[in-house]
Amino acid sequence: MKHLTTRRASARYLLPGIAFALLVLTGLVLPPEAKAQSSVRPPENATTSIAPPGPPLQGGVQGTASDADIWRDIRQGEVGTVPIPDKSAGLMIQSQGEDWRLQRKGPMNDYLGYAMLATIVLLAVFFAIRGRIKVEHGMSGVKIKRFSTLERMSHWLMALSFITLGISGLNFTFGRSLVLPVIGKDLFGPLSGFLKATHNYTAFAFMIGLALAFVLWIVHNIPDRTDLNWLAKGGGLIGKSNHPPAKKFNAGQKLIFWGVMLLGLSVSVSGWALLFPFEHQLFTGTFALLGNIGIDVPAILGLPEPPYSAIQEQQFNSVWHSIVAVAMICLIFAHIYIGTIGMQGAYDAMGSGEVDLNWAREHHSLWAEEVVARKPERISPAPAE
Ligand code: HEM
Repeated sequence: MKHLTTRRASARYLLPGIAFALLVLTGLVLPPEAKAQSSVRPPENATTSIAPPGPPLQGGVQGTASDADIWRDIRQGEVGTVPIPDKSAGLMIQSQGEDWRLQRKGPMNDYLGYAMLATIVLLAVFFAIRGRIKVEHGMSGVKIKRFSTLERMSHWLMALSFITLGISGLNFTFGRSLVLPVIGKDLFGPLSGFLKATHNYTAFAFMIGLALAFVLWIVHNIPDRTDLNWLAKGGGLIGKSNHPPAKKFNAGQKLIFWGVMLLGLSVSVSGWALLFPFEHQLFTGTFALLGNIGIDVPAILGLPEPPYSAIQEQQFNSVWHSIVAVAMICLIFAHIYIGTIGMQGAYDAMGSGEVDLNWAREHHSLWAEEVVARKPERISPAPAE
């Protein structure tokens, strides 16, 4: 009786056992292509009765199209129809996403990194050759008010938020290759999460600072004839006793101002579209506008023709956002250089808001004379009557 039960039990497990062994063996013996075909791709000669996305194939007859055609259409980004509200779900495979991923991981990041390194090297070379630009007549000890509290608050709101955005943004691009190997996964994960949130929220502070600086300083940054002279003399950066006359902002600063405003606006708009995705058609619209004046950007850059899908718009946005951000970082490197180690007495303008009268006379002679003549209350100690 005991024997019988044991034999029946063995028979019960024997069949599934053999079946399982056969399955395993088939898996081991089948050539890899056969496995790939059975798991992912339909066989070459397969036909289907599923209607392919897009216009009916093969003379309008549905049901005789080969699966290969359908798969090719899907593979090439054909958008089908879906019953749910999010119509973008009709896109099963977006091939350009792979191009975008490879670009972002590959040459593009390298170029962005080289651009920043090249700027730092150029500034270091310039510093080595020119040295610190000194106040030639020495400090007078007399101070002249240059920026109000509101101006300095706006500057520092814009500047500190930009620096925060720069550091957190560069972590998206270079963190994985530069920071991760140093601090390890356990730290890099939470740190990147924190920096991502910081980046998103700080963006609003930057936009406010940018708008305030624009309103406060636009009046001093309209180009005029003094700028041409200033540029012709190379801003007096090369050689000594060669300070061309300048108003409150010289031509170099006006270039920085407009660079910051235009790049800042572009980085803000593309950043906004990344924060609130799939709602903006920035590239389709811009390329159409440029197309109207004869500039065919997609043809020049070898991009697919617009209109672009929502996901393509996001991909272009992410590329554009980082290119503009890095261009602005390079510009700001030069700005920070001249505002700190590059020029004696410059930092005070944004630090205390007051600069030395001799500094003002050398670098902004027209502005300094105007203040001395018309607003003596801005000078301390007050000039003797
Ligand atoms: C540590 C960082 C920074 C320092 C030390 C610094 C310093 C200065 C100084 C001293 C000035 C006044 C120059 C003058 O008296 O004429 C200035 C002006 C200005 N700064 Fe900054 N800045 C910094 C970061 C930034 C950043 C990140 C931005 C933009 C995102 C920025 C945008 C501007 C603009 C638009 C002006 C007016 C135009 C000009 O003077 O070039 N600054 N900054």
